[in-house]
Amino acid sequence: MYKDFQEETNVNNTPQSTEQGATFVVVANRLPVDRIVGEDGEIDWQTAPGGLVTALEPVMRQRGGSWVGWHGAPDEEVEPFEHDGYTIEPVPLSAQEVVEYYEGFSNATLWPLYHDSVAFPEYHREWYEAYEVVNQRFAEKTAQVAAHGATVWVQDYQLQLVPRMLRELRPDLNIGFFLHIPFPPMELFDQLPWRVEMLEGLLGADLVGFQVPGGASNFLRLVRRRTEHRVDRDRAKLVGPDQHTCVARAYPISIDTQGFADLANSPEAIAEAEQLLADLGNPSKVFVGIDRLDYTKGLRQRVRAMGELFSEGTLDPHDTVFLQVATPSRERVDEYRRLRDDIDLLVGRINSEVGGVGRPPIVYLHASFPRATMAAMYRIADVMIVTPLRDGMNLVAKEYIACNPGLDGALVLSEFAGAARELRQAYMVNPYDLNGMKEVVMKAATDSTQNRRRRMRALKKQVSENTIDKWADKFLTDLDAKGDMGKDTNAG
Ligand code: G6P
Repeated sequence: MYKDFQEETNVNNTPQSTEQGATFVVVANRLPVDRIVGEDGEIDWQTAPGGLVTALEPVMRQRGGSWVGWHGAPDEEVEPFEHDGYTIEPVPLSAQEVVEYYEGFSNATLWPLYHDSVAFPEYHREWYEAYEVVNQRFAEKTAQVAAHGATVWVQDYQLQLVPRMLRELRPDLNIGFFLHIPFPPMELFDQLPWRVEMLEGLLGADLVGFQVPGGASNFLRLVRRRTEHRVDRDRAKLVGPDQHTCVARAYPISIDTQGFADLANSPEAIAEAEQLLADLGNPSKVFVGIDRLDYTKGLRQRVRAMGELFSEGTLDPHDTVFLQVATPSRERVDEYRRLRDDIDLLVGRINSEVGGVGRPPIVYLHASFPRATMAAMYRIADVMIVTPLRDGMNLVAKEYIACNPGLDGALVLSEFAGAARELRQAYMVNPYDLNGMKEVVMKAATDSTQNRRRRMRALKKQVSENTIDKWADKFLTDLDAKGDMGKDTNAG
């Protein structure tokens, strides 16, 4: 079984599973590990991609309980098993459901729509039907594994119908929902032919969490406008036979800051960082980008901006490198294929035009790496470039701050990442403004030591004070309190 950097299990020692079921259940489309069947038929488990898993894995390791999710392979039934101190409860998906529910409705309808329509969302009735069927399956599986009165925490856009379905099956449960991606304004959300179903699905929860206050207020505005329920400040009082209250608030997610810092300071990561630098020819400045290969991440704009800095001679390819890692993602979805080709082409063109024999100015790696290697990359990044066109939070920005040793690193961050609300001392950019982005990248690279350190000190303070533990505690304490969470509202 795959083990990651922290091995301690269920450190608060609270039993979260009994014979009657689990008292704490996380429900997410992804499990923390993906089942991979090799060519020789051998089975392997790998850490699943993305911010959701990075964030929730330490929460589960600490609290124990059950994680209900898909194991990443089609047409396979997998038995529940124990992993790092909690139970994994796999939900199967057929190959057809992977196409319609996962690649289709989740990632070619909702994903682009919720990210400002930076790619065109497609609407197909059969995709939505598959989404309903799969959400019902997740709700039924959860209803089976949850103990009476358990706390169930449903995650992300793939499962927005689950809270309501689950409440119908199990009204005794305490149901929370957290959306990891942006929740769009009414002007965009209204396109969705199933907008009312989606809102009613979420309203099945006692507490719905968003990354930023704007997400919560977009949601409440839509509930007021598109349903008959009564909205009062940060909550909706449901009309109908089941008169519960659904509260909507912002809970900006974070990372296991100490875990990342420890990993980056481990002898292995330090050695790997030295090796990496040597492999890159010991350049005097290293710019780094690490993203899932996703069109929301602003890769086209970033690569163009960096390419221009090299071709104009502002950056010298002999002593500067731009290392860009793009983790393969959703590879069968058309937009992702197009993006891959575009980036290959752009990088190839820049590298063939700039520089000479030897290491190219842009080192582009389309691959996934273990966390220790990522930590080594964060260690060597003099300037980390995080420029999404829209992003719910962006945990890479926070991981960099946790991992980069000392105070001399610099973070360039898009205004359109949720993280920009908290990481105010980053060098902010509008990724659509290429000249502006080039200027800010250069400012980050050449700023005075004093300025850079002042900024990094504030950033490090932010991520060490706001950790994933605090995030989970805050959400779950509010969920336990049901509607009585104080009078303050942060939905504005
Ligand atoms: C984002 C989403 C997650 C998702 C992850 C990886 O972080 O918010 O829900 O799991 O991307 O994407 P994938 O489609 O591979 O699960």
